[in-house]
Amino acid sequence: MQVKIVKDKTEGGQVAFDLIKKGIENGAKVLGLATGSTPIPLYQDMIASDLDFSNLVSVNLDEYVGLPEDNEQSYHQFMKDNLFNKKPFAHSYVPNGNAADIDEAAKEYDQIIADNPIDIQILGIGRNGHIGFNEPGSDLNSTTHKVKLTESTIEANKRFFDDEKDVPRYAISMGIGSIMKGKQIILMAYGEDKADAIKATIEGPVTDHVPASVLQNHKDAIIIVDEAAASKLSK
Ligand code: GLP
Repeated sequence: MQVKIVKDKTEGGQVAFDLIKKGIENGAKVLGLATGSTPIPLYQDMIASDLDFSNLVSVNLDEYVGLPEDNEQSYHQFMKDNLFNKKPFAHSYVPNGNAADIDEAAKEYDQIIADNPIDIQILGIGRNGHIGFNEPGSDLNSTTHKVKLTESTIEANKRFFDDEKDVPRYAISMGIGSIMKGKQIILMAYGEDKADAIKATIEGPVTDHVPASVLQNHKDAIIIVDEAAASKLSK
C-alpha cells in the first residue's frame, strides 16, 4: 500500500488523473468509478483533459435501492452530471437499484465485472471505513450484493436530501472481493472527518470492522490523502 500526502483535493485529483492517464497509455480499458464529493476534482480534470474515453468502459461501485435513476441524488444521475454527459465512455455500467429482483441484478452485475475486468478502481471512503457501500462487518470476499446502510452512512449522506427520511436505507454495491480484483486501486480521502478511517485503514489490522483496511493486502493500492485526512497517522 502506497500513501501519498497532498496539499488539498485539487492536487489529489491531479495525482489520480496522472495515474489514470498513465494507465490508459499502458493499455487500461476499464475504469472502476465512484461517487461522492471526493472524486469530483478528478472528474473535473478528466473532463478538462484531451483524453478520449469513448473506447473505454466504466463500471461504477454502487447505487441506492429504490431511488429513480433520474432522481438528482441517484448515482446514475451523479455520474451523468459529473462525468458521463461531458466525457462519454463506450459503455458505462452502474448497478440497477430499481430491479424487481435486486439479488438477480447483483448476479448480472458480477457478470458485467467478470466480462470487463477493472484495470483501475477509484475509491472514496466512508467515515466508518466503508468502500463502495460495504459497511463494517461486510464479508471481505463479497461480490455484488444488497446492503443495509448503517446509521453513520445515513447520517453522512442526509446532507444531500431534503429530509433524513428520504435517504434510502438500502443500496446495491460491488463487494469487497470484486473491488480487490481491480488491477490498480486508487483511494482518495480528504478532510478531518476521514482521519480516523484513514488511520485504521493504513495502520490498523486488516479487519472487516474497517472494510478499507483490506487494501493492505492489495499489491497495487495507492492512498491519496490531504494533510487533514492524514493527521492521525503516526508516521
Ligand atoms: C458514499 C459512497 C462511497 C463514498 C462515500 C464518501 O457512501 N457509496 O463510495 O466513498 O459516500 O463520500 P464523500 O466522498 O462525499 O465523502
